[in-house]
Amino acid sequence: MLQTESPKRINDEKLNSFLRFVIRDKDRHALWLNTLSLLEHIGSRKILLTQSNDDTSEMILRHATEEARHALFFKKAARNIKADFKSGYHTNELLKGNSAKIYFAKLDSLVRSNLKKSELDPFKFTYLAYLYTTTVIEKRAMIVYENYNQLLESQNIEINLQNLILEEEGHLDEMSAEITKLDPHWEARLEILMEKENKIFERFLNQLNLIVA
Ligand SMILES: [Fe+2]
Ligand SMILES: [Fe+2]
Repeated sequence: MLQTESPKRINDEKLNSFLRFVIRDKDRHALWLNTLSLLEHIGSRKILLTQSNDDTSEMILRHATEEARHALFFKKAARNIKADFKSGYHTNELLKGNSAKIYFAKLDSLVRSNLKKSELDPFKFTYLAYLYTTTVIEKRAMIVYENYNQLLESQNIEINLQNLILEEEGHLDEMSAEITKLDPHWEARLEILMEKENKIFERFLNQLNLIVA
């Protein structure tokens, strides 16, 4: 128990010191918001790329649509902070954009390599990879977005993540319902994956903290 709690606590402190630093400067804050937009966009794109087939359900379409909307939300929020912020996702329009991309790619590959070693139905491989990657990332998003939202509120910054947080919670519930149906060992697997994700998130956070003066 202590082993899993300890790194998370370190992450929380690192996360909050980074967030406090980032919102102090409008240029920096806009770049951070655009980086969150990129992560949401990668999520949405990945869902459509991997889950478009004869089984594509309403849940998949809703999920991809909501992640795309979150990407748009953060891009618009960047413009709220800095009116002339017009951007794509070029490196100079992001905060540690490459590290953000690496974080997502590593998460994806650690989930896939765990599932490859499992006894689970190979025909469900892509779907299970989607379910686990989403679950782990949504759990991380809840921590980041909730801390970030509290900070925005305390600084009277007019960006509110509450609706977005509710939608992420909804995704998490949907993923859990599917995972528990398809994987008898979901609890143990999720714990392993979350522990590994914690390490790669910490590396991403370390990169972000390099900008803190
Ligand atoms: Fe999202
Ligand atoms: Fe989500």
